[in-house]
Amino acid sequence: RGHFSKERLLEGKKVLVTAGGTVERIDPVRYLTNDSSGKMGFAIAEEARRMGAEVTLVVAKVTAPIPSGMPVVRVESTMDMMNAVLARLPEVDIVIKAAAPADYRPAERSEQKMKKKDEELTLKLVKNPDILQAVGERKTERQFVVGFAAETQNLEAFAMDKLKRKNSDLLVANDVTVEGAGFGTDTNAVRIYDRNGLVEAPPLMSKAQVAQRLLTMIAERLPKKEG
Ligand code: CTP
Ligand code: CA
Repeated sequence: RGHFSKERLLEGKKVLVTAGGTVERIDPVRYLTNDSSGKMGFAIAEEARRMGAEVTLVVAKVTAPIPSGMPVVRVESTMDMMNAVLARLPEVDIVIKAAAPADYRPAERSEQKMKKKDEELTLKLVKNPDILQAVGERKTERQFVVGFAAETQNLEAFAMDKLKRKNSDLLVANDVTVEGAGFGTDTNAVRIYDRNGLVEAPPLMSKAQVAQRLLTMIAERLPKKEG
Protein backbone atom coordinates (compact mmCIF):
# COMPACT_ATOMS: atom_id res chain seq x y z
CA ARG A 1 0.00 0.00 0.00
CA GLY A 2 0.80 3.66 -0.61
CA HIS A 3 3.50 4.35 1.93
CA PHE A 4 6.02 1.77 0.90
CA SER A 5 5.77 2.09 -2.87
CA LYS A 6 5.90 5.89 -2.66
CA GLU A 7 9.03 7.56 -3.91
CA ARG A 8 11.22 8.99 -1.22
CA LEU A 9 10.13 12.52 -2.11
CA LEU A 10 11.86 14.07 0.90
CA GLU A 11 15.17 12.18 0.65
CA GLY A 12 17.92 14.11 2.42
CA LYS A 13 15.63 16.91 3.60
CA LYS A 14 15.90 18.06 7.21
CA VAL A 15 12.45 18.46 8.70
CA LEU A 16 11.60 19.97 12.08
CA VAL A 17 8.15 19.08 13.44
CA THR A 18 6.64 20.51 16.63
CA ALA A 19 3.86 18.68 18.42
CA GLY A 20 1.77 18.88 21.57
CA GLY A 21 0.48 21.57 23.87
CA THR A 22 2.93 23.68 25.83
CA VAL A 23 2.73 23.89 29.61
CA GLU A 24 2.91 27.15 31.54
CA ARG A 25 3.66 26.67 35.22
CA ILE A 26 1.86 28.58 37.93
CA ASP A 27 3.72 26.93 40.81
CA PRO A 28 5.67 23.66 41.24
CA VAL A 29 2.51 21.51 41.05
CA ARG A 30 0.11 23.53 38.88
CA TYR A 31 0.04 24.65 35.26
CA LEU A 32 -1.99 25.86 32.29
CA THR A 33 -2.12 23.84 29.08
CA ASN A 34 -4.52 22.79 26.30
CA ASP A 35 -6.03 19.68 24.70
CA SER A 36 -3.43 19.04 21.99
CA SER A 37 -2.73 15.29 21.78
CA GLY A 38 0.32 15.42 19.50
CA LYS A 39 -1.27 12.98 17.01
CA MET A 40 -1.21 15.23 13.94
CA GLY A 41 2.43 16.22 14.48
CA PHE A 42 3.46 12.62 15.12
CA ALA A 43 1.68 11.42 11.96
CA ILE A 44 3.57 14.07 9.98
CA ALA A 45 6.90 13.14 11.58
CA GLU A 46 6.47 9.43 10.80
CA GLU A 47 5.28 10.05 7.25
CA ALA A 48 8.16 12.47 6.58
CA ARG A 49 10.64 9.86 7.73
CA ARG A 50 9.07 7.25 5.42
CA MET A 51 9.50 9.72 2.60
CA GLY A 52 13.24 9.86 3.30
CA ALA A 53 13.51 12.97 5.47
CA GLU A 54 15.77 13.44 8.48
CA VAL A 55 13.17 14.36 11.09
CA THR A 56 13.58 16.10 14.45
CA LEU A 57 10.58 16.29 16.75
CA VAL A 58 10.14 19.08 19.29
CA VAL A 59 7.55 17.77 21.72
CA ALA A 60 5.60 19.51 24.50
CA LYS A 61 2.84 17.85 26.55
CA VAL A 62 1.19 15.04 24.58
CA THR A 63 -1.16 12.15 25.26
CA ALA A 64 -0.33 10.08 22.15
CA PRO A 65 2.78 7.83 22.11
CA ILE A 66 5.92 9.60 20.84
CA PRO A 67 7.27 7.95 17.65
CA SER A 68 10.59 6.15 18.07
CA GLY A 69 13.57 6.16 15.74
CA MET A 70 14.02 9.91 15.46
CA PRO A 71 15.60 12.57 17.68
CA VAL A 72 13.12 14.05 20.15
CA VAL A 73 13.60 17.32 22.03
CA ARG A 74 11.27 17.58 25.02
CA VAL A 75 10.12 21.06 26.00
CA GLU A 76 7.67 22.45 28.51
CA SER A 77 6.69 26.08 27.87
CA THR A 78 6.15 28.13 24.73
CA MET A 79 9.40 30.00 25.50
CA ASP A 80 11.28 26.65 25.72
CA MET A 81 9.74 25.54 22.42
CA MET A 82 10.72 28.82 20.78
CA ASN A 83 14.34 28.42 21.94
CA ALA A 84 14.45 24.80 20.75
CA VAL A 85 13.04 25.70 17.33
CA LEU A 86 15.15 28.82 16.71
CA ALA A 87 18.35 27.05 17.78
CA ARG A 88 17.78 24.40 15.08
CA LEU A 89 16.32 26.64 12.40
CA PRO A 90 19.57 27.43 10.48
CA GLU A 91 20.10 23.77 9.54
CA VAL A 92 16.55 22.75 8.61
CA ASP A 93 14.84 22.77 5.21
CA ILE A 94 11.25 22.42 6.35
CA VAL A 95 9.51 23.54 9.56
CA ILE A 96 6.06 22.13 10.36
CA LYS A 97 4.41 23.76 13.36
CA ALA A 98 1.69 21.32 14.38
CA ALA A 99 2.07 22.19 18.07
CA ALA A 100 -0.43 24.19 20.12
CA PRO A 101 1.73 26.65 22.05
CA ALA A 102 0.00 28.38 24.97
CA ASP A 103 -0.67 31.98 23.95
CA TYR A 104 -0.21 33.30 27.50
CA ARG A 105 1.84 32.40 30.56
CA PRO A 106 1.46 33.45 34.19
CA ALA A 107 3.14 36.81 34.77
CA GLU A 108 4.76 35.32 37.84
CA ARG A 109 5.64 31.79 38.71
CA SER A 110 5.60 30.95 42.40
CA GLU A 111 8.68 29.06 43.58
CA GLN A 112 6.64 27.47 46.36
CA LYS A 113 3.28 25.74 46.18
CA MET A 114 0.66 28.48 46.49
CA LYS A 115 -1.50 28.33 49.58
CA LYS A 116 -5.27 28.67 49.47
CA LYS A 117 -6.40 31.99 50.99
CA ASP A 118 -9.06 34.42 49.78
CA GLU A 119 -12.41 33.64 48.15
CA GLU A 120 -11.12 35.00 44.85
CA LEU A 121 -7.81 34.64 43.13
CA THR A 122 -6.82 36.60 40.04
CA LEU A 123 -4.12 35.11 37.89
CA LYS A 124 -2.30 37.62 35.71
CA LEU A 125 -1.17 36.29 32.34
CA VAL A 126 1.24 37.81 29.83
CA LYS A 127 1.47 37.09 26.12
CA ASN A 128 3.95 34.52 24.84
CA PRO A 129 6.06 35.11 21.73
CA ASP A 130 4.72 33.64 18.49
CA ILE A 131 7.12 30.92 17.37
CA LEU A 132 5.73 30.55 13.86
CA GLN A 133 5.96 34.29 13.33
CA ALA A 134 9.56 34.33 14.59
CA VAL A 135 10.37 31.50 12.15
CA GLY A 136 8.59 33.38 9.33
CA GLU A 137 10.69 36.48 10.02
CA ARG A 138 13.95 34.54 9.91
CA LYS A 139 13.31 32.09 7.08
CA THR A 140 15.52 32.14 3.98
CA GLU A 141 14.42 31.44 0.37
CA ARG A 142 15.49 27.83 0.66
CA GLN A 143 13.37 27.13 3.74
CA PHE A 144 9.72 26.07 3.71
CA VAL A 145 7.39 26.78 6.63
CA VAL A 146 4.01 25.24 7.38
CA GLY A 147 1.62 26.53 10.03
CA PHE A 148 -1.60 25.16 11.46
CA ALA A 149 -4.81 26.79 12.63
CA ALA A 150 -7.61 25.26 14.64
CA GLU A 151 -10.72 27.41 14.42
CA THR A 152 -14.33 27.31 15.52
CA GLN A 153 -15.56 30.01 13.08
CA ASN A 154 -14.52 32.09 10.02
CA LEU A 155 -12.05 29.38 8.98
CA GLU A 156 -10.87 30.89 5.70
CA ALA A 157 -10.50 34.47 6.93
CA PHE A 158 -8.61 33.47 10.09
CA ALA A 159 -6.45 30.98 8.17
CA MET A 160 -5.43 33.50 5.50
CA ASP A 161 -4.71 36.12 8.14
CA LYS A 162 -2.42 33.71 10.03
CA LEU A 163 -0.66 32.59 6.85
CA LYS A 164 0.17 36.16 5.85
CA ARG A 165 0.92 37.53 9.29
CA LYS A 166 3.28 34.67 10.05
CA ASN A 167 4.86 34.53 6.57
CA SER A 168 4.14 30.80 6.16
CA ASP A 169 4.29 28.95 2.83
CA LEU A 170 1.31 26.74 3.63
CA LEU A 171 -1.32 26.79 6.32
CA VAL A 172 -3.30 23.75 7.40
CA ALA A 173 -6.62 24.86 8.86
CA ASN A 174 -9.22 22.78 10.54
CA ASP A 175 -12.65 23.48 11.89
CA VAL A 176 -12.61 21.80 15.29
CA THR A 177 -16.42 21.80 15.44
CA VAL A 178 -16.54 19.21 12.61
CA GLU A 179 -17.15 15.68 13.91
CA GLY A 180 -13.93 13.63 13.74
CA ALA A 181 -11.64 16.65 13.27
CA GLY A 182 -9.21 18.35 15.58
CA PHE A 183 -7.88 17.56 19.05
CA GLY A 184 -7.37 13.97 20.09
CA THR A 185 -9.06 12.29 17.12
CA ASP A 186 -7.39 9.82 14.72
CA THR A 187 -8.94 11.58 11.74
CA ASN A 188 -8.90 15.15 10.50
CA ALA A 189 -10.75 17.30 7.96
CA VAL A 190 -8.39 20.04 6.83
CA ARG A 191 -8.27 22.85 4.34
CA ILE A 192 -4.83 23.73 3.05
CA TYR A 193 -4.09 27.35 2.04
CA ASP A 194 -1.23 29.14 0.35
CA ARG A 195 -0.77 32.88 -0.29
CA ASN A 196 -3.32 32.76 -3.11
CA GLY A 197 -6.03 31.02 -1.11
CA LEU A 198 -7.44 27.50 -0.86
CA VAL A 199 -5.25 24.79 -2.40
CA GLU A 200 -6.88 21.57 -1.22
CA ALA A 201 -9.85 20.52 0.90
CA PRO A 202 -9.62 16.75 1.21
CA PRO A 203 -12.49 14.90 2.90
CA LEU A 204 -12.28 13.52 6.45
CA MET A 205 -9.40 11.04 6.47
CA SER A 206 -6.89 9.51 8.88
CA LYS A 207 -4.19 11.82 10.24
CA ALA A 208 -1.63 9.56 8.48
CA GLN A 209 -3.38 10.22 5.16
CA VAL A 210 -3.57 13.95 5.87
CA ALA A 211 0.16 13.86 6.62
CA GLN A 212 0.85 12.09 3.30
CA ARG A 213 -1.17 14.62 1.32
CA LEU A 214 0.46 17.55 3.06
CA LEU A 215 4.03 16.23 2.69
CA THR A 216 3.52 15.39 -0.98
CA MET A 217 2.31 18.95 -1.53
CA ILE A 218 5.33 20.32 0.36
CA ALA A 219 7.74 18.17 -1.70
CA GLU A 220 6.24 19.53 -4.92
CA ARG A 221 6.58 23.11 -3.72
CA LEU A 222 10.07 22.99 -2.24
CA PRO A 223 12.42 25.64 -3.59
CA LYS A 224 14.83 24.08 -6.10
CA LYS A 225 18.42 23.50 -4.99
CA GLU A 226 20.65 26.50 -5.69
CA GLY A 227 23.71 26.22 -7.99
N1 CTP B 1 1.89 29.33 17.09
C1 CTP B 1 3.20 29.56 17.48
N2 CTP B 1 3.46 30.25 18.63
C2 CTP B 1 2.46 30.71 19.40
C3 CTP B 1 1.11 30.50 19.02
C4 CTP B 1 0.87 29.79 17.85
O1 CTP B 1 4.10 29.12 16.78
N3 CTP B 1 2.75 31.39 20.51
C5 CTP B 1 1.65 28.60 15.84
C6 CTP B 1 0.95 27.27 16.00
O2 CTP B 1 1.88 26.22 16.20
C7 CTP B 1 0.22 27.12 14.68
C8 CTP B 1 -0.09 28.56 14.30
O3 CTP B 1 0.82 29.38 15.03
O4 CTP B 1 1.06 26.57 13.66
C9 CTP B 1 -1.48 28.99 14.59
O5 CTP B 1 -1.78 28.77 15.92
P1 CTP B 1 -3.12 29.34 16.51
O6 CTP B 1 -3.21 29.10 17.98
O7 CTP B 1 -4.25 28.85 15.64
O8 CTP B 1 -2.92 30.90 16.18
P2 CTP B 1 -2.74 32.18 17.06
O9 CTP B 1 -1.90 33.12 16.25
O10 CTP B 1 -2.24 31.86 18.42
O11 CTP B 1 -4.19 32.79 17.09
P3 CTP B 1 -5.48 32.45 18.02
O12 CTP B 1 -5.08 31.42 19.04
O13 CTP B 1 -5.85 33.77 18.59
O14 CTP B 1 -6.50 31.93 17.04
CA1 CA C 1 -3.23 30.35 19.85
